[in-house]
Amino acid sequence: MANLQLNINGRDIAIDADPAMPLLWAIRDYVGLTGTKFGCGMAQCGACTVHIDGEATRSCIFPVSSAVGKKVLTIEGLSEDGTHPLQKAWIEHQVPQCGYCQSGQIMSAAALLASNPNPTDQDIDEKMAGNICRCGTYGRIREAIKTAAKSNA
Ligand code: FES
Ligand code: FES
Repeated sequence: MANLQLNINGRDIAIDADPAMPLLWAIRDYVGLTGTKFGCGMAQCGACTVHIDGEATRSCIFPVSSAVGKKVLTIEGLSEDGTHPLQKAWIEHQVPQCGYCQSGQIMSAAALLASNPNPTDQDIDEKMAGNICRCGTYGRIREAIKTAAKSNA
């Protein structure tokens, strides 16, 4: 066990944990932020996607100790009141079905728009390919990303 100083959604948080524990456990079980989901646990589905220093990262395989000194952003920190352009576009296009994959989808989309504010369909498909949706909402995800990109312009 080790005392680990994390910064999650702008808050400094200290936890006692195994340094090799996945960051996802810290986010969900130690800090109580349950918007980030566990899907496969093997970096294959994207449900656990958060940002680490702005990079979309699979928190299910990322050791919590590697997050020390970095800024972790989860879906809860994307905006204070759910009005990030992607969140608004997600509602406009009624993207979610079961919803399980959606926080990971939005966090990957947010990282995409931060690096590429005006993505093509191909850019979207490439960057979002690692986020699996068993409900098949891919078409609406793509449209919502384009709507959010326009609203940011
Ligand atoms: S739970 Fe992390 S990629 Fe599937
Ligand atoms: S909305 Fe159900 S898995 Fe994506």
